[in-house]
Amino acid sequence: MAQRSTPPDGAAVEVAPAGRLCAPAALRNAEPLTALLAEHAPPEGEALELASGTGQHIAQFAKAFPGLTWQPSELDPARLASIAAWTDGMTNMRAAITLDATAQGWGAKQGAFDLILTVNLLHLIDAPAAQTLIHEAARALKPRGRLIIYGPFLRGGRTISRGDAQFHASLTAADPRIGYKDDFDVVDWLHAAQLTLLDLVEMPANNLAFIAERGS
Ligand SMILES: C[S@@+](CC[C@H](N)C(=O)[O-])C[C@H]1O[C@@H](n2cnc3c(N)ncnc32)[C@H](O)[C@@H]1O
Repeated sequence: MAQRSTPPDGAAVEVAPAGRLCAPAALRNAEPLTALLAEHAPPEGEALELASGTGQHIAQFAKAFPGLTWQPSELDPARLASIAAWTDGMTNMRAAITLDATAQGWGAKQGAFDLILTVNLLHLIDAPAAQTLIHEAARALKPRGRLIIYGPFLRGGRTISRGDAQFHASLTAADPRIGYKDDFDVVDWLHAAQLTLLDLVEMPANNLAFIAERGS
């Protein structure tokens, strides 16, 4: 198995033009994520990204999938500014919004989406917050809308490489409530939110992508 060496929140550096942050982890997984979306994203409609980070992913996705109108969201003001810098002038891009993906009730307040995507967030929040995120995302989806969750996960309660074990341990040492979630738990949480798991995709560097759909 590949060894994981990603820092907990991908140390981002500023790149030109001014204001754009660039995270090495986001550079590494941008192409595999674009290929994943090519297979599993709806061709058109409204797409929401939760925890857009630097904004480099959503800028790439908006170029690759022009039939979708993209809504970035984040909590961190510095990253909201970076998202604005990356997405400035893109026609199929909405202005980034401040959104706590773990807050109760956001799903009913935001518009209805054909796609909701979150990349590398679940291991940084606790299990109740992850369940709330999934519940609210399910509420924010249109009928047949899709939720895609990507990141590192335990497999049947275990890490699958020494690098993953070290990364998971570093997260739980910083905060015992966070760290990798178990793949079986995530499937249970998706089902509890009335979502159907369509596919579970093995991604590079030991990551997983859950592809779930709301009923019609
Ligand atoms: C590891 S980074 C991933 C960023 C981006 N998705 C990527 O893959 O490059 C985690 C991001 O989640 C954001 N974040 C943390 N807690 C959040 C929450 N409760 N709601 C929304 N965003 C959150 C952080 O500000 C950070 O930008």
